[in-house]
Amino acid sequence: MTTALVLTHSNRQLFQLLGDPVSHSLSPAIQNAAFDAAGQNAHYTTRRVSGAECGPVLRKLALDGGGGNVTVPHKEAVVPFLDCKTDSVTATGACNTFWAQNGDVWGDNTDVAAFLGAYQAVLKHRPRSLDVLLLGAGGAARAVVFALLQRNEVARVHLWNRTPGRAQALIKHFRDPRVRLLRQRRGVIAGLVVNATSVGIDGHALPLDLDTLGAHPQGVVDLVYNRRTPSPLARAAKSLGVARIDGRDILVRQAEAAFACWFGEAPPPGVMARAIDAN
Ligand code: ATR
Repeated sequence: MTTALVLTHSNRQLFQLLGDPVSHSLSPAIQNAAFDAAGQNAHYTTRRVSGAECGPVLRKLALDGGGGNVTVPHKEAVVPFLDCKTDSVTATGACNTFWAQNGDVWGDNTDVAAFLGAYQAVLKHRPRSLDVLLLGAGGAARAVVFALLQRNEVARVHLWNRTPGRAQALIKHFRDPRVRLLRQRRGVIAGLVVNATSVGIDGHALPLDLDTLGAHPQGVVDLVYNRRTPSPLARAAKSLGVARIDGRDILVRQAEAAFACWFGEAPPPGVMARAIDAN
């Protein structure tokens, strides 16, 4: 009886979240709920790894038939360990999802697909020409810029960052005339506001007072996620009647996209969102 149980366990595909820290992560709850609902003989855990360990651990997991995700601070450091990269990894220089196919280790950055899904959901009626105000110039902002540049209706991305030099480096990286440095946010008119800073993770701080813009936007996407409550910017948008999506939705979308990379099909709808609510 014990032998059979051990065998069953060892035959399961192992998926891990690699990063530091990882103990707070909701990914195991989300992915294991989806694995169970989809009938996958797989298990998901977290693993705290150093920068030196991360690449080799990633390759072993993938080549053993499993895979996983990568989080802060290793998303960029693992890229040289991939055999094949999606366009999202190449363009952003960051990988958050890995697996193996025909002996090659693949990496994707599902933050890009997650943002594009949120973008489409929040802008139900997309204008012919859209100005976007993007706050932040870190790794998350890089995925957002790459996603936005794939949309023909995006006419301009006004990039604001607390440290302008970092915004300038991001602009130089993409070399697209649609992305411009913004030094002063007051009075700006944009159809979409995206918060890719970490302001709001405390549940209180607002990255921007929407009333200081030249007009209220049509939609707001906030990458910040607070447990069991909308983010501060999402709450502010709601009070103004502005369509909004926050980090909870993005978290589910990037996890659903990772599941699709691993298993070739989407997880059962709604399972991951319910798993977040329950945790
Ligand atoms: P991520 O990978 O999530 O993008 P990151 O690369 O550390 O994380 O980037 C964090 C972003 O939040 C940056 O744009 C940072 O601005 P700086 O480049 O000036 O550091 C922004 N940020 C963090 N704290 C902030 C604050 N208190 N006010 C404004 N922006 C802040």
